[in-house]
Amino acid sequence: MTRTIIKGLGSFLPDNVVTNSDLEKIMDTSDEWIQERTGIKERRWISNRSETTSSMGCKAAKKAMEMAGLGPSDIDFVIFATLSPDYYFPGSGVLVQRDLGLDNVGALDLRNQCSGFIYGLSVADQFIKTGMYKNILLIGSEFHSGALEKSTNGRSVTVIFGDGAGAVVLSAAEEGEKGIISTCMHSQGEHAEALMIKGPATGVWVDELLEKENYGEPEWRPYMNGNFVFKHAVTRMPEAIQEVLDAAGKSSADIDLLIPHQANLRISAMVQKHFNMSDEKVFNNIQHLGNTTAGSIPIAMTQAFEEGKLKRGDLLCLTAFGSGFTWGAALLEF
Ligand code: ACO
Repeated sequence: MTRTIIKGLGSFLPDNVVTNSDLEKIMDTSDEWIQERTGIKERRWISNRSETTSSMGCKAAKKAMEMAGLGPSDIDFVIFATLSPDYYFPGSGVLVQRDLGLDNVGALDLRNQCSGFIYGLSVADQFIKTGMYKNILLIGSEFHSGALEKSTNGRSVTVIFGDGAGAVVLSAAEEGEKGIISTCMHSQGEHAEALMIKGPATGVWVDELLEKENYGEPEWRPYMNGNFVFKHAVTRMPEAIQEVLDAAGKSSADIDLLIPHQANLRISAMVQKHFNMSDEKVFNNIQHLGNTTAGSIPIAMTQAFEEGKLKRGDLLCLTAFGSGFTWGAALLEF
């Protein structure tokens, strides 16, 4: 069966850096609290609507296509993972098809939040393995800052999230190339309401929100039961990593680099400790970017590659956990 390789990767980050001390000026928080609880020092927030979710995705995708040496007519399919699409509908995938001038290829939108990139990787892998497509563009992009409540009321969520996009080109492997070895995807919908934006959607429609005092706030703001999410994340991520290792007949000692979804530096540290891995084998960049949800893993992969921490031939493990709950992992030879 054909295997799937990552032929190109790229990322895009808005220029505007928002430090913890910037946040201290608009809400009751402190650099010390944020760093101690999350590891985050600064994040990027789009200023003056200079970007959209799809425009950042396109910029990351162009870099990934350039690295892969592929042009618009080479892309057979688009997968776009985000929880912050440009429009309620249509999804952002079609905007990428339009703005990158791709042929009239299929564009699939994934709504799996922090696990979106892992889900996308697994879906793309199936299409390539079966021979249906040869080159798939997978994008994870988030424009969080527009929906965050920038006051003390929203502090437990707002300080965590950042904007940005990452993309990969997944291609059919040549003879001898290994690529994706195993992936897994999971969900537990009983906790859907533990991390969510409720509306506007059919559960609480626009008219209903407008009738409410303060437009039903916080129903259209992100809600997160942080402690509860944290406890599940530190259990599910190691489980998923073990699952992809077992499927490949590998152990954690074989991993050259682990890139966990950048949700919280403490979560990454606990996953690292679970597998007794050294600092050099775990890549984190949440300190400078915050949690960019579907963008976090492809952005981190790009940075790790650019910094020489991820090399061709490395056994790379990726894992994510987030809203849904959804979680998963992937093991691949980069
Ligand atoms: N600044 C100062 N104080 C704050 C802030 C803030 N920004 N936010 C909350 N606090 C206060 C709270 O009000 C609380 O005060 P109290 O004790 O007087 O009530 C205290 O700090 C502790 O709050 P907790 O919520 O218990 O703090 P915790 O240690 O759990 O950290 C955090 C919160 C950072 C959100 C953590 O729970 C976390 O990272 N959770 C997981 C996030 C995650 O993985 N999300 C999944 C991915 S995101 C996605 O899928 C979209």
